Amino acid sequence: MQRPPSQEQIQRDQLHGRQVAAMFGRIARWYDFLNHTLSLGLDIYWRWRLARVAQPRPGGAVLDLAAGTMDVSLALLRQYPDIRVAAVDYTLPMLVHGKRKLNGAPGGQIIPAQGDGRRLPLADESMDAATIAFGIRNIRPRMAAHKEVLRCLKPGGRFCILEFGTGRRKVWGGLYNFYLDKVLPTVGRIFSGDRAAYRYLAETIREFPDERQLARELLEAGYARVFHVAMLSGIVYLHVAEKAGELAGELAGETGGRATGAGASAGPAGGAPAGVPVRKDSLRKDSLRRDDPREAVLRCFTREDPGKPPREDG
Ligand SMILES: C[S@@+](CC[C@H](N)C(=O)[O-])C[C@H]1O[C@@H](n2cnc3c(N)ncnc32)[C@H](O)[C@@H]1O
Repeated sequence: MQRPPSQEQIQRDQLHGRQVAAMFGRIARWYDFLNHTLSLGLDIYWRWRLARVAQPRPGGAVLDLAAGTMDVSLALLRQYPDIRVAAVDYTLPMLVHGKRKLNGAPGGQIIPAQGDGRRLPLADESMDAATIAFGIRNIRPRMAAHKEVLRCLKPGGRFCILEFGTGRRKVWGGLYNFYLDKVLPTVGRIFSGDRAAYRYLAETIREFPDERQLARELLEAGYARVFHVAMLSGIVYLHVAEKAGELAGELAGETGGRATGAGASAGPAGGAPAGVPVRKDSLRKDSLRRDDPREAVLRCFTREDPGKPPREDG
């Protein structure tokens, strides 16, 4: 059992949240380009796999947490055109940049909302599934996000996490590790002008728990069963945690997944948009103007973090 965090730890985590948001605000404009370039386009396939395992019911609602520029939200809609996606992210500029891609979105509906994964602006048991791509390692404490997502999931719903494997293990004879330590910060700096942001990326990948530790964490948070699927020699992992209840089905077409857990066989401001059950106490009525590009982003903050949004440069 984890001890409750001290007041100092809470303050450190809040500061970390703001710093991370400010950093993503600075690189938001370059984010998509660098993502696709640095992964040689593989990130598109990884997000497709993530959306594939989410398996929401037809017409259901999916939370895309740390949605950023909403590539996962779009991947979800392409596969399940009749769902609604609550695209929640802490950093407004990321959502604003992503919003530009939504014009050609197929069917369904994506609702971008600025909010914190540690205190989600969503009603209990309102989501059929939840996804997070390359976002969980930015949230401190992670456990708060695991539990919040669990609260918002319907019984049997899946929390699907796409994340880099820990860079602590040697992959491809150390080539991947060299890429993380040297290539990534350098290329990131050249394009975005922000070496610190891409060094942060490499550091957080190295600090991230391995698949077994993460599975233990998710089970401790209260999920009934956890799977993982390694991709590209373990450079990227897909983790799936299921809430107890009627299960959505086995991982369709996924082979080689490992399971852990009890049931495992092995190891706009001022009003909620239609279709997404928003928690009433979380909406922030603030000073967005009609002509403000941010207007289309719902803004949700909490009593603990009452509306001093992270810096919004970028
Ligand atoms: C690496 S980006 C991932 C974006 C997107 N999911 C993708 O696949 O490209 C990480 C995102 O996590 C968001 N984030 C960090 N802390 C957060 C928090 N506490 N709550 C919600 N989002 C958060 C950042 O704002 C950023 O947009």
